[in-house]
Amino acid sequence: MKSIPFLLHGGDYNPDQWRHVPGTVDEDFRLFPLAGINSLTVGIFSWAALEPEEGLYEFGWLDEIMDRAAASGMAVVLATPSGAKPNWLAAKYPEVRRMTPPDAVQGVPALPPVRELQRGRHNHCPTSPIYREKVRALNSALASRYARHPALTLWHVSNEYNGECRCPLCLAAFRDWLRQKYGSLDALNDAWWTGFWSHRYSDWGEIEAIDSSIDGLVIDWKRFVTHQTAEFLRAEAEPLRRITPEIPVTTNLMGFFGGLDYARIARELDIVSWDSYPQYHERPGETERTAALNAMTHDYMRSLKPGKPFLMMESCPGPVNWYHHNRLLRPGQHRLKSLQAVAHGSDSVQYFQIRKGRGGSEKFHGAVIDHEGSEKTRMFDEVAQVGRDLAALAPVLGSTVRPRVAIVFDRESDWALNASQGPLESVKRGAVDALLAHYRPYWKRGIAVDVVSPEADLSRYALAIAPCLFMLRDGFADKVERFVAGGGTFLATWLTGIVNSTGLCFTGGFPGPLRKLLGVWAEETDFLYEDERNVIAAAPGNALGLSGEYSTRSVCDVVHAEGAQVAATYGRDFYAGSPALTVNRFGRGEAWYLATCGDDAFLDALHGALAARLALPRALDSELPEGVSSNVRESGDGTQFVFVLNFASGPRTVDLGATPLENMLEGGAPASGPVAMPPFGVMALRRPRAGAASNAL
Ligand code: GLA
Ligand code: ZN
Repeated sequence: MKSIPFLLHGGDYNPDQWRHVPGTVDEDFRLFPLAGINSLTVGIFSWAALEPEEGLYEFGWLDEIMDRAAASGMAVVLATPSGAKPNWLAAKYPEVRRMTPPDAVQGVPALPPVRELQRGRHNHCPTSPIYREKVRALNSALASRYARHPALTLWHVSNEYNGECRCPLCLAAFRDWLRQKYGSLDALNDAWWTGFWSHRYSDWGEIEAIDSSIDGLVIDWKRFVTHQTAEFLRAEAEPLRRITPEIPVTTNLMGFFGGLDYARIARELDIVSWDSYPQYHERPGETERTAALNAMTHDYMRSLKPGKPFLMMESCPGPVNWYHHNRLLRPGQHRLKSLQAVAHGSDSVQYFQIRKGRGGSEKFHGAVIDHEGSEKTRMFDEVAQVGRDLAALAPVLGSTVRPRVAIVFDRESDWALNASQGPLESVKRGAVDALLAHYRPYWKRGIAVDVVSPEADLSRYALAIAPCLFMLRDGFADKVERFVAGGGTFLATWLTGIVNSTGLCFTGGFPGPLRKLLGVWAEETDFLYEDERNVIAAAPGNALGLSGEYSTRSVCDVVHAEGAQVAATYGRDFYAGSPALTVNRFGRGEAWYLATCGDDAFLDALHGALAARLALPRALDSELPEGVSSNVRESGDGTQFVFVLNFASGPRTVDLGATPLENMLEGGAPASGPVAMPPFGVMALRRPRAGAASNAL
């Protein structure tokens, strides 16, 4: 399979919107080299331009773009156009239009689904045989036509798959999927606990796609939507894989989007790519949190294929058109967020969009080429700067990140939590917040983290953290036991180990199958008012060397230590003196249980102490100032690329240590010791493999 030839810099390019405006493409190709654009993502929403009438293909306009790109040495990321369907198709074959329950749009409960009007995009039925056939035919034609084209670099299948359809075809497919999964209705009835409210099924045909009183159904429906989307993707990709087996396939994902289990979708892909729209436009005081959240999202996307680079398929040069607030990116912030992606393992900086269209709902969305039309804009300059940076960073291509820390995130667990009524509504929305609270202490220390599914191989990590892992899949506890017995360190928090994979509560005490490993029983949980606090008091002589008292909020499990040592206790209430943090030695490793949220100061102390105890590698051997993060990518030969990113709006001084490092962005001059960084400043440094001679220094 072909690999990505260079760090891609480009993005969504829609020349088909401009075919009636002569000269536009000429002007674009004049501007591309000025901005260092070396890659075009073409054809995403081009079905009507490629097949204006049923079976009549028009490739002339695309031939021209492909040929011009090849002549300029550019890469083309070629899209399949299934993300938006042409009017003729929707009119002639209504089954391709999605059916949606009116309650989803009108707040009216339990009305049957209705067929949507043709409009918008991302709204086809994934089951419709006609839609699949039309997509297959067009994709086959695209693949055959460009199979040997030198510009063809990567397939971009569809666009941001999302949503669901409740048409009769989808419902029948759901029932088939359930039949396959459970084998019998008895097994399904047991798994879904349908004795509740007389919901026992006696015929597969009685199963509807929606009943929020049955958690198992809600979770399985979401699994089915993921399954059907993955099957659709596979069907779309089939002609591409057959006709062009050497061209890798991706689709653009959406970070923590909750509608699909990306761990499953990623299995259909050769390369993971995603669309990154961090809200750096928000209040300046929010910048550091935004930076950490975006960092974690990059890590989550990268970890879908651990140890491999990913692609940032879209990002915005300037403000988007869909935020509530839309502050301009301050000078330097575009470069900073672009290189943040590279620092976390992206082999691209790509944009939505290259040229702003004059009409349609995205005409106010940021672009490389603004309505003004020339290279004279501030954002064009900032994009051109990134183009120069990526050229200087060419050796980074293909290198990756090798964390020793894994944070376990399970989309299915989040579905299970949201499907259940209780234990408390306010904790449900917080899944990503809970992850971030445990991620941030590592991010600010320059310690790399993978964000992995419970199915991931944990053996490559020294530390695995499971924040609020409400649902435990079959076999997960056994896997973690093996990990810890072999010397790994595991930390689970409150709200972990509550339900099984169909949302049934574990019997035998929480945290369910992890009770033995963690050596604790969480008997009850106290949910605090928002303004209430409890106290976490470090126990004398605890294994982490924690001391003093910290504040905690929100959730306090009342826990019995059953063999675990108590590292901290609560300071208040009737459970004062009972365990708030415990550690259980198990085999050659340790299993920690954190019974309460803990304010940021506590989480920082806890994870800082764990990081020191496990001697986790840091990007730089020094404390990073507030607002600065640092990452390492490593190539096959052991060369390290160290990125230092200042998200603060003020200058910061970073200590690079005594050994000089090659400064890749500033003409190769060696850098060492304390270095001043301007607001939103970026450094990229090359650290040769230990023992290797470097002729650059
Ligand atoms: C998504 C889509 C793009 C565009 C952008 C706007 O990422 O994939 O087509 O709509 O949003 O931000
Ligand atoms: Zn359907």
